[in-house]
Amino acid sequence: MKNGLLKKIMAGTLLGIMTMGFVGCGSSGNDSKGESVDLLTTIQEKGKVVVGMSADYAPYEFHYIDENGKDVIGGFDVDIANEIASALGVELVIQEMDFDALVSALPAGKVDLVISGMNPTEKRAKVVDFSDVYYNSQHGILVRAEDKDKFKTFADLEGVKVGVQLGSTQEEIAKTEIPNVDLQQLANVNNLILELKAGKVDAIVMEKPVAEMAVKSNPELAVGIPSYEEKTGGNAVGIAKNNPELLAKVNEVINELNETGKMDEYILKANELAATADIVGEDEEE
Ligand code: ARG
Repeated sequence: MKNGLLKKIMAGTLLGIMTMGFVGCGSSGNDSKGESVDLLTTIQEKGKVVVGMSADYAPYEFHYIDENGKDVIGGFDVDIANEIASALGVELVIQEMDFDALVSALPAGKVDLVISGMNPTEKRAKVVDFSDVYYNSQHGILVRAEDKDKFKTFADLEGVKVGVQLGSTQEEIAKTEIPNVDLQQLANVNNLILELKAGKVDAIVMEKPVAEMAVKSNPELAVGIPSYEEKTGGNAVGIAKNNPELLAKVNEVINELNETGKMDEYILKANELAATADIVGEDEEE
């Protein structure tokens, strides 16, 4: 992508984020009598639900150029967010932020929900609540194609540079599975992929579907052999603590999407879109 266009898009995104910053939302509030109100009520009163995402994770959520040349965010997390918004009868507002800022954004009231390929770990569950798991995934490694058979186990990654997204579960996996790991933590996954292509890191630990998608748009990369089973079962929606009505609504939507087969459709659609679309951020240093 040409620099000028990228800059325009980034400026547009920035403006969007700044505007969204003024949209009020709360982790849970009090009514005039001082009684606590479920966030569900607050969301319905303000007429919008603010969903936090780090849109650097195709096919979950990613920036791409649509048929009108516009930079938009797509992916199955976006479809889930839309379904939740329409079930609540409110407008969806996507609030982008770095992945490592998402968990604390919930109790801070900066976002109402987090939908960002997040694993509901015990550590995070001390700070926020999680919905039922909506997608089962495993973790794997992304490497340069010529290195595909070089790393047979995570232990074989000792002595090489390993990239992970800052604040992700993969950071923990790399620390526990790779002896004396030489870790490179970056806030944005697209930049990690650029570093891998440039030879600055040798492997990236990430969700396997994301690694597979990266290979589709970067044939010089490959999914490596080591695989790590996700202990939490997969990805879930993050919600500020003690909002049982909102949590129940979100679970209702997830269960319905599963039962009707719509979830599978969204996943398929996101995979097709990510494989064919012009994804923003993958081909140039940001
Ligand atoms: N599943 C991992 C985690 O929960 C990484 C998710 C990264 N998501 C993203 N949108 N970049 O920590």
